[in-house]
Amino acid sequence: MKNNLILLLRTACAGLFISLASAMQAEPSLSVRHLVNEQSIIRIENARKYLLLPIQDNAPEVKIYLIAGNRRMGEGINARLSRERVDYYVPFSLSAYEGKDVAIDIQGIPSSAACWKKIKLADTFDTANREAFRPVYHHTPVYGWMNDPNGMFYKDGVYHLYFQHNPYGSTWGNLSWGHSTSTDLVNWTFEGDAITPDAWGMIFSGSSVVDYGNTAGFGEGAVVAFYTSAKPSPWGDVQTQSMAYSLDNGRTFIKYEGNPILTSDKRDFRDPKVFWYEPGKHWVMILAGGQEMDIYSSGNLKEWKYESSFGAKQGAHGGVWECPDLIELPVEGTDEKKWVLICNINPGGPFGGNAAQYFVGTFNGKKFVNESPTQTKWMDWGKDHYATVTWNNAPDGRCMAIGWMSNWQYQAVLPIMQYRGSNTIVRDLGLYRKDGDLFLRCVPSPEIEAARTAEITIPSFKVSDACTIEKLLDENDGAYEIEMEIKNAGASKMVFSLLNEKGEKLYMYYDAMQEQFVMDRSESGNADFSASFPAVTVAPVSDVGYVKLRLFVDRSSIEVFGDDGEFVMTNQVFPSVPYNSMSFESIRGHYTVKSMKIYKIK
Ligand code: FRU
Repeated sequence: MKNNLILLLRTACAGLFISLASAMQAEPSLSVRHLVNEQSIIRIENARKYLLLPIQDNAPEVKIYLIAGNRRMGEGINARLSRERVDYYVPFSLSAYEGKDVAIDIQGIPSSAACWKKIKLADTFDTANREAFRPVYHHTPVYGWMNDPNGMFYKDGVYHLYFQHNPYGSTWGNLSWGHSTSTDLVNWTFEGDAITPDAWGMIFSGSSVVDYGNTAGFGEGAVVAFYTSAKPSPWGDVQTQSMAYSLDNGRTFIKYEGNPILTSDKRDFRDPKVFWYEPGKHWVMILAGGQEMDIYSSGNLKEWKYESSFGAKQGAHGGVWECPDLIELPVEGTDEKKWVLICNINPGGPFGGNAAQYFVGTFNGKKFVNESPTQTKWMDWGKDHYATVTWNNAPDGRCMAIGWMSNWQYQAVLPIMQYRGSNTIVRDLGLYRKDGDLFLRCVPSPEIEAARTAEITIPSFKVSDACTIEKLLDENDGAYEIEMEIKNAGASKMVFSLLNEKGEKLYMYYDAMQEQFVMDRSESGNADFSASFPAVTVAPVSDVGYVKLRLFVDRSSIEVFGDDGEFVMTNQVFPSVPYNSMSFESIRGHYTVKSMKIYKIK
């Protein structure tokens, strides 16, 4: 009897709890009212975590403001709300207002647009991958647009990578610093958007440092980020430099009250890279200022003194100078060290659109001097390698770089939608001497080798006519590495192509006469989404008698590292199914593939 009573009481309490809970979780409601001049208001009662916005990539941008208590919260966002069709959804966070009433003010879209019936409230946003082209072992944003890598630093075993992110669409806009972390450089976790637009504008590219000496006074070990504030929205050509600091290892940032910290009346004044200059015990900032790179110094990260500019009559000037870096590297086989100034340029790259050039020389904490002023040096000989910068505080004195694996010529129309933009694999940088001059050596960071899951060895074979390896991998999801060493015996061209069963072909060869490595992606798969996409890219090679190659293929890209990183070529490809065979051909003479290994990655 007593037991029954307890049970009854329990059931009654549970009922009470359920009804209380359902009262608290009252049904959300969303109603739309249209006004004149393409303006509308959405009234939301009992808000859920997200308002899901339907996007049509080719629709014009619309301004959207969140209104709470009759006030605009934040700067508003721009989104390409659906006019005729829904390409995908993006989440607009209402999490700060869950269970409360808010309004959304939408400006610039008629009442006849398709979006009005499609906008919805939700507690979750589905980020499961929907893209067959999404790389397996390269970093990509979970959703939305991505361009330059930003603010990378390494601390406590974790690699932090921020990136130019549009969380409200897969086209450029609303630039924020998306944040991803990794401990192995292969698996990345999206940590959310760490720095988002404010009254000074969108958050363009920049860098972060770890202030172990507390020079700025934000705290010992504070992570201090430097970025370009760019307004007005949506274009951002009025540019100043701002700073934000993080006391939780780069997860969240507090913007510095005194922003902007650096202003100029120069056009294209952006992308600050900050680092500690040990000999002078001060901070250095290098940033783009028109067709030059400007160098500043500081003791406290807040006040900056102009020191010098580099660039007049140096290197390529076929486009805007952006995203600089300045790093010190040992020269292989010597006790010498040299400084390398990385200068990303768009357009003006060797194959159209963007590319990364570099200069090797000296730096005294104030001024960089280029020691080979006559030659333009390229970090990568493909079409899809840009905005390359390095990690601050990389472990073991390493210098590690990552680039955006795309080109401004066609990034907005790539045949992917859930996300747009991927990064290269991480590369370790060094310097080697050839013919009296110094060049960058870029090798895949060795961490990638830990991600190999299967290995196939192909015995040495001679190529005199044409031959084919029919099946590279039994189970091929398009993510693998091929390692080859080739000895030439009089061939004028050593041809090898990656093929799939649809007849799509990525054509590559060494041209022994021209001393070049060549890649032609015009028949590599879907290549007609932009007239600038089909391309032949060419890298100079110093010795075509014996060559070493590592090809990293990952669903929609290939990165070729030749001769232990003496040249690199990075290109995107969009084959309808993975390349799973390889054909070899020799033009005149023959060559021998001395060793060949295929590794499945992940
Ligand atoms: C380079 C760049 C940077 C700028 C950013 C804006 O790709 O133009 O100079 O900070 O993109 O997204």
